[in-house]
Amino acid sequence: MSSNSQAFQAIKGTYDILPADAPTVLAVREAFAAPLRRAGYGYIETPVFEDINLFSRGVGESTDIVTKEMFAFTTLGGERIALRPEGTASVLRATLEANLHRVGNLPVKLWYSGSQYRYEKPQKGRYRQFWQVGAEAIGAEDPALDAELIILADDAYRSLGLRNFRILLNSLGDRECRPVYRAALQDFLRGLDLDEDTRRRAEINPLRVLDDKRPDVQAQLVGAPMLVDYLCEGCKAYHEQVRELLTAAGVAFEDDPKLVRGLDYYTRTTFEFVHDGLGSQSAVGGGGRYDGLSEMIGGPALPSVGWALGVDRTVLALEAEGITLDAPATTDVFAVPLGEQARRVLFGTVTQLRREGVSADIVYGGKGIKAAMKAADRSGARWAIVAGDRDLAEGNVQLKDLSTGDQTPVALDVLVTTLKEKLQ
Ligand code: HAM
Repeated sequence: MSSNSQAFQAIKGTYDILPADAPTVLAVREAFAAPLRRAGYGYIETPVFEDINLFSRGVGESTDIVTKEMFAFTTLGGERIALRPEGTASVLRATLEANLHRVGNLPVKLWYSGSQYRYEKPQKGRYRQFWQVGAEAIGAEDPALDAELIILADDAYRSLGLRNFRILLNSLGDRECRPVYRAALQDFLRGLDLDEDTRRRAEINPLRVLDDKRPDVQAQLVGAPMLVDYLCEGCKAYHEQVRELLTAAGVAFEDDPKLVRGLDYYTRTTFEFVHDGLGSQSAVGGGGRYDGLSEMIGGPALPSVGWALGVDRTVLALEAEGITLDAPATTDVFAVPLGEQARRVLFGTVTQLRREGVSADIVYGGKGIKAAMKAADRSGARWAIVAGDRDLAEGNVQLKDLSTGDQTPVALDVLVTTLKEKLQ
């Protein structure tokens, strides 16, 4: 075979969502969206690519996402573009651009659903294109908003039947107390025996060092100053209120003073949903407050909070818990015409059924009766309409119940109403 006739494959780190898996994927997205709609979040869609600077400024110059994982390119017109690695910066950009924060009530509550792109090392649960449903509440500083979002995500996971997940909660402080802590942590890290890369990270983004998974690093981190001990009164009181609201709502969480997120924009409340059946890629969702992001991308002060839930990993979490969601049947009715005239008539019937809201399909490609009946069985339909030219000459078709095999003649002119009644 010559090389240009070789079959193509999906690019590394990407995969196809095939019809057999699609109902679960769609159900997960819907389960994430439903609580948001009930809580007054409006749907927004932004482009999959943006000015690269939006992400380098928004997500943070020192993050892995910006330094190593961005799908960046120059367009034919010379613009520097990146595929979005996440949704928050784009949604805030769109909010500012459309002045949503000026025309309506604050917070502006928005939700979105879409693919994100990160050039990460692919493995199970970690892809280069993955899917998130996200929510952002923009322009209000209120612990009730932070709690609301965590509760909505908890509701969403529970509505899918998931139970083996935990909520990790932390506060990262604000622009008043975090710098003091940052300096103290850097002092501590400078006294350790760290490799050059880690030492560099300690200078740029010392909090990320706390997240280092290597045992030798973790061993040295015992006794490191912790952010909880440095929180200012304002941050402490705020965090306490978030905790109280969650407790009052019956949402269990674990305080995790070491929780740092992979994006730089967070202030105060940060949280992650982790699933215990997923191995190393255990975070099924995460988010937090980002009070300074608007100003970082050229907007006014707009304290905000949000999250994004990972669709791909949630599907894996459902598998891990052995949960299968009810997949709706693909079609209700399958037409098997025997002969040319029957074909024209039944094609018309199928069109009419579809227009009246009944899912219907027909055998294609001029199959013989045996292959056609096999196709009907495989389609998962409940009813088959079988008609030959002789039936039609008498104004009839045969209606076959595919679950029992029973077959009865039905007059063509009452076929659609009969089927609609039977399917009700
Ligand atoms: P994030 O923690 O980077 O946050 O991503 C949220 C979720 O997306 C993760 O918990 C995970 O389930 C999923 N995810 C991330 N990377 C991958 C990947 N490579 N493959 C599969 N799934 C992945 C954000 O993106 C923030 N924008 C969340 C946010 C919204 N914060 C405030 N508002």
